[in-house]
Amino acid sequence: MSILITNIKKLIQVRGASVRKISGAEMKILPCIENAFLFIEGENISAFGKMSELNSKSEIRNSKLEIDATGKLVFPCWCDSHTHIVYAGSREQEFVDRINGLTYEEIAKRGGGILNSVKKLQGASEEELIESAIRRLNEIMKQGTGAVEIKSGYGLTVKDEIKMLHVIQKLKPHSPLAIKATFLGAHAVPPGTTKEKYIDAIINEMLPSIAKEKLADYCDVFCERNYFTSDDTIKILSAANKLGLKGKVHAEQLSNSGGVKAGVECEAISVDHLEYLNDEDISALKNSDTMPTILPGAQWFLQLPHPPVRKMLNAGLPVAIASDYNPGSSPSGNMNFVLSIACVQYKMTPEEAINAATINSAYAMDLSVTHGSITAGKKANVFITKEIPDYSFLPYSFANDLIDIVIINGKLIIDN
Ligand code: NIG
Ligand code: FE
Repeated sequence: MSILITNIKKLIQVRGASVRKISGAEMKILPCIENAFLFIEGENISAFGKMSELNSKSEIRNSKLEIDATGKLVFPCWCDSHTHIVYAGSREQEFVDRINGLTYEEIAKRGGGILNSVKKLQGASEEELIESAIRRLNEIMKQGTGAVEIKSGYGLTVKDEIKMLHVIQKLKPHSPLAIKATFLGAHAVPPGTTKEKYIDAIINEMLPSIAKEKLADYCDVFCERNYFTSDDTIKILSAANKLGLKGKVHAEQLSNSGGVKAGVECEAISVDHLEYLNDEDISALKNSDTMPTILPGAQWFLQLPHPPVRKMLNAGLPVAIASDYNPGSSPSGNMNFVLSIACVQYKMTPEEAINAATINSAYAMDLSVTHGSITAGKKANVFITKEIPDYSFLPYSFANDLIDIVIINGKLIIDN
């Protein structure tokens, strides 16, 4: 099957094959081609260029499906490198409790928060979890997401963490999205045990079975007061590294807890949240390959302080954006809206936000070789917008549905 998209008003995020991430001042640059065509063969992007160059390429003209994109833009699909979309039930009562004055931490202390979702997940069957997760995957795909990372972390027993990871593996044949799995056993300490005993179970029971069954690509830790310390984080990620699992960290979300430094020390692929990131953390990140990732949906929904994005960019760091789609702190995976939050609240330019949510978030799940830009040979994961004036219109026109067509792995998936 081949698809030719013609008369594209602007083809967005055109990059060379060697680009893996974009940092600092370079994030202000978003390479585009105006009045372009894009040719897809099989699962991959085969060629693209100016419409004026198309007539000379007769092999392209014979393609099967032609889409006229007059007045429309073509983007590489969003890469969402941080989600918790396998969960049971919902937590709107906690949303109401916060409106009435309680904080996220106060709700957690009363047995709400993560432990609320743990109870619900432990009572759900694999089939129920698969069904609701597929619904969420289809929903984000419609909103332009083409690759997603999904965490465990609502199981918190050997059996239930492995159940969650099995569910994530079973989603793969049901969805064309690229899916990466993360083991987040260290999301909270379950009731009825001590933190020391639970960490022992993570290291000596959960991690070895997960590595043996190849159920996860990454291991994550919620490094936060009342959860896991930076020493706990180093201990868990070191054990994971020995088994071939790279680290990720929920870091500096509610307080500065040393998660970034622990992540950098363990060569984590990303450190995520970063509301309480400080200057020392920025220095640590400068000498690392770890991707600092902001989660604007969760910051906005919980009304936390803004992560110091401009400071990070001025220091020359890359920044990635992900949704953190989860039932507690970000019950939406709409990356278009997440970009709007980053632009409005942190004053990221649309170019910076788009770089952060494509090539850099692909890097944060080891996918920037195949995803995150319009590059010959990469997966044909693209979306075509409705007729809009320019790419800035997307974050500007917040929460509106501006996507017309989604193509994943060269297949037309959604035609709105
Ligand atoms: O990324 N911060 C910890 N974990 C999730 C929230 C999980 C929950 O509230 O269920 C997060 O925000
Ligand atoms: Fe999270």
